[in-house]
Amino acid sequence: MIDALPFPQHIAIIMDGNGRWAKERDLKRTAGHEEGAKVVREITIHANNIGLKYLTLYAFSTENWSRPKLEVEFLMKLLERHLKDELPMYLENNVRFKAIGDLSKFSKSLQKTIKETTQKTLHCSGLTQVLALNYGSRDEMTRAVQAVVQKGMEITQESIAQNLDTQGMPDVDILVRTSGEVRISNFLLWQCAYAEMFFVQKFWPDFSKYDLDDIIDDFTKRERRFGGI
Ligand code: FPP
Repeated sequence: MIDALPFPQHIAIIMDGNGRWAKERDLKRTAGHEEGAKVVREITIHANNIGLKYLTLYAFSTENWSRPKLEVEFLMKLLERHLKDELPMYLENNVRFKAIGDLSKFSKSLQKTIKETTQKTLHCSGLTQVLALNYGSRDEMTRAVQAVVQKGMEITQESIAQNLDTQGMPDVDILVRTSGEVRISNFLLWQCAYAEMFFVQKFWPDFSKYDLDDIIDDFTKRERRFGGI
């Protein structure tokens, strides 16, 4: 089967290199995260403007808890502030917010902000911006299979997909990782089964909407065969 998609529906990004971006400038790592959050905003607005339906961003992994306590605390505060500050952006641009991952490990206050942002943007019908928070693909798949068993459902590809955090979303068409690292790092392993991969040399704070456009241009020229010839 040859199926060249004219335009992607779902782009997922591993936003890597905030720390190195800051180090290059003699700044604290946290300055890199601050700058990274601005890029999240720019890319979200652009993705919505060009008609993308789903943008999933890896903001905090199940492994990120092992970072220095102060950095974890900073990231938690940044996330909460970001969600609160960005509510007008979501609403003005008709962008729906969704979180995936095991949210139960976050503070009550952050959980509340995530829930409120989700509810207040539920009616938005443009882009869905999905933040992966305390997310790990193995953890997600394990929770999905546990849910399937608990519901007494038969274990099939469909029942597993229906119980993933991403249920109802299309598979990932394009996976991007910034900073030059060539790894998937436990991100959307199920959903990326047929994704085209793009590894970009820039650090996340240097990534721009023009880089996203170049990737989409390249993608639309590639031919996807889904295992066929
Ligand atoms: C990777 O850079 C980035 C993260 C672990 C967190 C991602 C967070 C942001 C982009 C900013 C906050 C996001 C939102 C949605 C408000 P790194 O720290 O691993 O960089 P390094 O590999 O150079 O050390």
